[in-house]
Amino acid sequence: MEFDSKKAVIVPEGVFIIGTYDENGVPNAMNAAWGIQSDYGEIALFLAKHKTTENLKKTGAFTVAFATKNTVTISDYFGIESGNNVNKIEKTGVHVHKSAHVNAPIIEEYPLVLECEVKEWNEEKEMLTGKIIAQQADESILTDGKVDLGKLQPIMYDASFHVYRVIGEVVGKAFSDGNAIKNSL
Ligand SMILES: Cc1cc2nc3c(=O)[nH]c(=O)nc-3n(C[C@H](O)[C@H](O)[C@H](O)COP(=O)(O)O)c2cc1C
Repeated sequence: MEFDSKKAVIVPEGVFIIGTYDENGVPNAMNAAWGIQSDYGEIALFLAKHKTTENLKKTGAFTVAFATKNTVTISDYFGIESGNNVNKIEKTGVHVHKSAHVNAPIIEEYPLVLECEVKEWNEEKEMLTGKIIAQQADESILTDGKVDLGKLQPIMYDASFHVYRVIGEVVGKAFSDGNAIKNSL
């Protein structure tokens, strides 16, 4: 069966929560699925015009929190309401503090957060690239000093059914399992 190309399901889509301040220091958060690592220490996000993009144009900074199984409801809310209409941080009751590195808020309910400077905001292409200045990880999601996705329980956006899924089990070893074929006769 052939699908409408505009409905192509490209997996996995992330659930990135972008934190920004406005010109008065009021924090905001939005949900974005279209994001990717674009270089070492760099993230790219594809954003239409939102309160968030207006904010980061002014401050030159943003944070990216990774939505998790425990933060599904607030994460979805951040994607269905605009900071132009309501203070989403107050409405959800989440706790924020300013990043020590960039002019953007860290939402404390998320255990893993990137602190980014705007590298480029291309309004025409609706593409944001951010230089990752620092990353904050809660001790509770670390194993041997590494981010443990089994503990973090990050979620992905499933565009087929408009649901969120937990990113799951380990099924193989990267740069390794393929050796079984590479080294076979
Ligand atoms: C699951 C989900 C994924 C989304 N992904 C994106 C995205 O990748 N890019 C985008 O511009 N908007 C995306 N949105 C829409 C914004 O989050 C939404 O318009 C939000 O209200 C913007 O908030 P703001 O106006 O406070 O900045 C997504 C929403 C949801 C629920």
